[in-house]
Amino acid sequence: MLAAAQISVFFTLFTGFTVAQVPSRTWRKPNITISIADRVAIADSALQVGIKRMGTDGEFPGEAYDQAAKFYLQMAAFDVIANQSQYHSSLLQLFNLAQVNHANFSSDVLPETLAYGYAAGRAYMAYSDPAFLKFATEAWWFGRQYTLTQIDVDSGKLALKNFTLAQVCTQGETMAGGTFQITDPADPEISANAAGFFLILSALLAEATSDPLYLEAAEQSFKFMHTHLFGSQNVVLENISGRASDSCVVNNFLNPANSGLMIEGLAVLTSITQNSSTRALLGDLVEAAIETYQGGQGIIEFGSTQAGDMLLTEGIGSACSRNVTTADLRAFAEAFLAVQFNAIIDLATDGTSNIYANAWVGPPNPNFLAGSQSPALGVMNIAIGLPNYTVVTPPSPNGSPAPSALPSRNASSNPTARPPIVGAIIGGVVGVVAVIGLAVSLWAFRRRFWQRRKGSDAEGHMAGPEITPFPGGDLPPATVNSSSAWDATTLVRGEKHPRYRAASSSQALEDPIVPASASLPTAELVRMLNQRLQSRDWDEAEAPPDYALGRGH
Ligand SMILES: *[C@@H]1O[C@H](CO)[C@@H](O)[C@H](O)[C@H]1NC(C)=O
Ligand SMILES: *[C@@H]1O[C@H](CO)[C@@H](O)[C@H](O)[C@H]1NC(C)=O
Ligand SMILES: *[C@@H]1O[C@H](CO)[C@@H](O)[C@H](O)[C@H]1NC(C)=O
Ligand SMILES: *[C@@H]1O[C@H](CO)[C@@H](O)[C@H](O)[C@H]1NC(C)=O
Ligand SMILES: *[C@@H]1O[C@H](CO)[C@@H](O)[C@H](O)[C@H]1NC(C)=O
Ligand SMILES: *[C@@H]1O[C@H](CO)[C@@H](O)[C@H](O)[C@H]1NC(C)=O
Ligand SMILES: *[C@@H]1O[C@H](CO)[C@@H](O)[C@H](O)[C@H]1NC(C)=O
Ligand SMILES: *[C@@H]1O[C@H](CO)[C@@H](O)[C@H](O)[C@H]1NC(C)=O
Ligand SMILES: *[C@@H]1O[C@H](CO)[C@@H](O)[C@H](O)[C@H]1NC(C)=O
Repeated sequence: MLAAAQISVFFTLFTGFTVAQVPSRTWRKPNITISIADRVAIADSALQVGIKRMGTDGEFPGEAYDQAAKFYLQMAAFDVIANQSQYHSSLLQLFNLAQVNHANFSSDVLPETLAYGYAAGRAYMAYSDPAFLKFATEAWWFGRQYTLTQIDVDSGKLALKNFTLAQVCTQGETMAGGTFQITDPADPEISANAAGFFLILSALLAEATSDPLYLEAAEQSFKFMHTHLFGSQNVVLENISGRASDSCVVNNFLNPANSGLMIEGLAVLTSITQNSSTRALLGDLVEAAIETYQGGQGIIEFGSTQAGDMLLTEGIGSACSRNVTTADLRAFAEAFLAVQFNAIIDLATDGTSNIYANAWVGPPNPNFLAGSQSPALGVMNIAIGLPNYTVVTPPSPNGSPAPSALPSRNASSNPTARPPIVGAIIGGVVGVVAVIGLAVSLWAFRRRFWQRRKGSDAEGHMAGPEITPFPGGDLPPATVNSSSAWDATTLVRGEKHPRYRAASSSQALEDPIVPASASLPTAELVRMLNQRLQSRDWDEAEAPPDYALGRGH
């Protein structure tokens, strides 16, 4: 089987351009046509709906522990993009509440703990408040206990696991850098999910503190994932056994979240080190993940529920805003993110409730789940910083890309290109007719691949049960006045706040939505955002947020 990236290498060698980085003409709405003011209002309304559904313990009733962390991350992300700090003090309170029954955010499931670290790292980026660095560090140390060092590997033992460790796997390479998925001493699973979260958390801490401990950890996690859990399609595999007696068995299931985690980890790592080989690998991974996880319309559709995916869009959004890809790939990725945004607001919500469904292809679902709301919110936050349209031009009708789509990417400098396969293609193919044939079979391959994916159950570690915590959408009862309990009324603006009304699918909202009266000066916020965003040259400028904020302290 030929992966998309290999095909693109072939195209580059033979024709001097790639087609893989050009949005397919089947992509639904790759241009954003609504104003920044409307985008801010949409994200803000979706945040408010979630804040109302939090229990007094700051968690979402009936949902997994880490769902709150992912929502907190979006509260911080909104403040980053808006250059605001309206959720700063609330988040301090919420992260403290999350530790009441979970010292150091401990959980039986490592990715749950590490999701708090990830959210705290992003909150530190938003506010530069050392309290968030402390939260991130606590989660990191908890995860560190379940992450293999070379010393652990050499001794064949980890204190918290009761079996003999596998020392080397793929191509005789060390297992150091792997993170176990769960704390049960007998469970051998080292997962991409746990290692990926630990990679991002380590990289964010390295960026924030310049402590070499974290940079070494990030590089070790990255090497582990690249060596043991990177598939021939250039996307991330599910897990590998860390138990010596299991002969390094790998589970090849493809979950978009795992690739998203590695993308964000590599984006942070590359912005720190400017290492050209991690940059190139990041580019391949972004491109392959977009090709692999899009449905026919370019919308992420994962598993039997056709779910969107927050970690994939966060990863791609970070790669774009940190400007660590080529300009062509960035434009391609931004068009992909725009497709997700347009799908979410057109197809995944009813237009009045501000509640978003798990499936971005729709239909809307009236039942609120933080596990569905946060992924949609993630895309809304990213979309505030996206250009209105991308400079990529779709292929012209005869099948060859328009001249303006010519990329500058250079396959021969690409360290992850796979020469034997390229060579085989070169040997067997002459001329443009064959090029078109390959494009058709790539399309067919993607289709088949996609249909297989749809058949499998995809929810993995990410989803919660379908429940309605507060029937009728009422506020949770604000019963507790104790300073340790979460009081949503500190943030909820209720009916004063404008509600987003979905524009019919092709029509943009005419007037910016501005509240008559609200605790947050939304009109002021929108004015500032417009000033910040429109003063940039979108063809070459970096999207907000300003990542210099909070770095190097
Ligand atoms: C994007 O388009 C909208 C609607 O046409 C416009 O109001 C807004 O100013 C544009 N934003 C940018 C950054 O070009
Ligand atoms: C963000 O806001 C702070 C003050 O709140 C200001 O000093 C800073 O210049 C702003 N940054 C940007 C990029 O607008
Ligand atoms: C939490 O972390 C601190 C140090 O970071 C450690 O002393 C403490 O034992 C940890 N608690 C748990 C329950 O892991
Ligand atoms: C490892 O721990 C599990 C319980 O988590 C137990 O059932 C098993 O017997 C232990 N194995 C060894 C070799 O101690
Ligand atoms: C890897 O994941 C699969 C599916 O979640 C699971 O069945 C399997 O046990 C895991 N592998 C290991 C080594 O735990
Ligand atoms: C860049 O990263 C690669 C892969 O991690 C590593 O082998 C190489 O030494 C790094 N180069 C520099 C200059 O740090
Ligand atoms: C997106 O916008 C650009 C610039 O206005 C335009 O050239 C292009 O045709 C648009 N693409 C689509 C798919 O509407
Ligand atoms: C492409 O790679 C070749 C060989 O590594 C190099 O000489 C050339 O400058 C590269 N071109 C670009 C545009 O990076
Ligand atoms: C993004 O990176 C490129 C080089 O990789 C650089 O030329 C460009 O100026 C950067 N853009 C911004 C806004 O920093």
